[in-house]
Amino acid sequence: MQVGNTFIFEHPLIQHKLALMRDKNTNTKDFRTLTNELAELMVYEVTKDLPLVEKEIETPITKATFKVLADTPITLVPILRAGLGMVEGVQRLLPTARVGHIGVYRDPQTHEPVEYYCKMPDDVAESIVFVLDPMFATGGSACAALDLLKARGCKDLRMVCMVAAPPAVERIAKEHPDVPVYCAALDECLNENAYIVPGLGDAGDRIFGTK
Ligand code: PRP
Ligand code: URA
Repeated sequence: MQVGNTFIFEHPLIQHKLALMRDKNTNTKDFRTLTNELAELMVYEVTKDLPLVEKEIETPITKATFKVLADTPITLVPILRAGLGMVEGVQRLLPTARVGHIGVYRDPQTHEPVEYYCKMPDDVAESIVFVLDPMFATGGSACAALDLLKARGCKDLRMVCMVAAPPAVERIAKEHPDVPVYCAALDECLNENAYIVPGLGDAGDRIFGTK
């Protein structure tokens, strides 16, 4: 399903794992495992248009030409903290991807993003960039990260989240219509604290066991 530039994956394995993550009784260890598994499944779909080149390979039988991934660098950019919980799962399929980090947290009163850290590989501008963050609520954190990456010259950006809310989907369609967003669910709304409803709670706290 597609809403604006947001694509929602309906694969049964993706839906099943997300439902387990939503359960408040899922403990930290299982939540972290599921986050990585879901990220791995999602990135399988998100990479389906990666560029390929022809390469001659000698099999035990003969030489022939086959398709392999082009040399285009791939950079994973987790938004700290919760995005870190997705990195290992994505790296299972993209083991040579480099990792840049963006630190953004939401101000608890205003819900506006506050940036506190950024470290990118030198050639990030030439990379295909996957921005990782399980939660896409107001869209403020993701848009701040995308602004920052575009200011560094990035052109091929893809946002991979898990649970999206309508305000975030509307915001990114206005501010970054060129960036496809991939998620596992588009939930109903936000509550008065800008948490996604029904959502899964605070993803960072559930991944790192901080509450
Ligand atoms: C969470 C989440 C996103 C952001 C989403 O991070 O991981 O980065 O909120 O909300 P938004 O779409 O309204 O910006 P949080 O601010 O809780 O920081 P943390 O991961 O360090 O706990
Ligand atoms: N951040 C989270 O971790 N969860 C939400 O529901 C919204 C923002």
